[in-house]
Amino acid sequence: MDITSRATTVFCVLVSFFLVSSAQTCINDTFTSNRVFDSCNDLPYLQAHLHWNYNQSTGEVEIAYRAHQISEGWIAWAINPTETGMIGSQALVAFRDANGSMTAYPTSITSYNPSMLPVNLSFQVSNISAEYSANVMTIFAVIGPLDNGTIANHVWQAGSSISDNIPQIHSTSTANLQSLGTLDFLSG
Ligand SMILES: *[C@@H]1O[C@H](CO)[C@@H](O)[C@H](O)[C@H]1NC(C)=O
Ligand SMILES: *[C@@H]1O[C@H](CO)[C@@H](O)[C@H](O)[C@H]1NC(C)=O
Ligand SMILES: *[C@@H]1O[C@H](CO)[C@@H](O)[C@H](O)[C@H]1NC(C)=O
Ligand SMILES: *[C@@H]1O[C@H](CO)[C@@H](O)[C@H](O)[C@H]1NC(C)=O
Ligand SMILES: *[C@@H]1O[C@H](CO)[C@@H](O)[C@H](O)[C@H]1NC(C)=O
Ligand SMILES: *[C@@H]1O[C@H](CO)[C@@H](O)[C@H](O)[C@H]1NC(C)=O
Repeated sequence: MDITSRATTVFCVLVSFFLVSSAQTCINDTFTSNRVFDSCNDLPYLQAHLHWNYNQSTGEVEIAYRAHQISEGWIAWAINPTETGMIGSQALVAFRDANGSMTAYPTSITSYNPSMLPVNLSFQVSNISAEYSANVMTIFAVIGPLDNGTIANHVWQAGSSISDNIPQIHSTSTANLQSLGTLDFLSG
């Protein structure tokens, strides 16, 4: 590698570092009830962010999943303990009721046409709640410990309608199909 290309490499690394760090928009997010989260990720699709605190002694993760959404829509964030993608994922879902209050509960995605009804997940979930403000929905919960330690396959989703208190099918746009990834609660 000659000096010019080495300089170019350093420059590119610096540029990409700068782009990555300046693109981290979640770090200044604030929360109600004096909640503070140590870690966050800007998720690449659906205008979504995951914030969390990992408790090393209990293995519990306190999360806040926040995404842009219209008031008639729903949001969901899930861990898939057995594979990648939607099927088998253990989800937290939230939407706004007609009276303006938020509903949030865990549900298991067992097929491409899941019931979306509340069920217990394969891991412990507590303290689940949700908020809506100015086209942003946030789900709060404490999950875990998880079977696979701190590394998890996660999936997130959003849909634009609710019927009889059941979140309805989401779109199959590229963003809705690519909204999955791997997460390390320890390193971010
Ligand atoms: C976060 O807040 C700090 C301190 O106010 C500021 O310097 C920084 O630009 C903000 N970052 C983003 C992504 O808004
Ligand atoms: C982890 O959980 C334990 C038991 O609930 C608690 O005492 C401790 O303060 C927690 N640690 C952090 C960093 O929150
Ligand atoms: C469990 O973690 C390992 C890495 O430690 C990873 O390779 C594997 O895919 C994970 N399994 C699941 C089901 O998340
Ligand atoms: C709002 O509607 C939901 C669902 O019908 C109900 O469970 C909840 O109790 C209602 N909340 C208020 C404040 O009326
Ligand atoms: C979840 O588990 C708890 C305690 O094991 C039980 O009381 C509750 O009915 C279960 N909920 C559902 C929806 O199965
Ligand atoms: C969960 O909720 C209980 C009761 O409201 C509260 O005492 C506890 O501190 C909460 N745990 C976390 C990790 O937020």
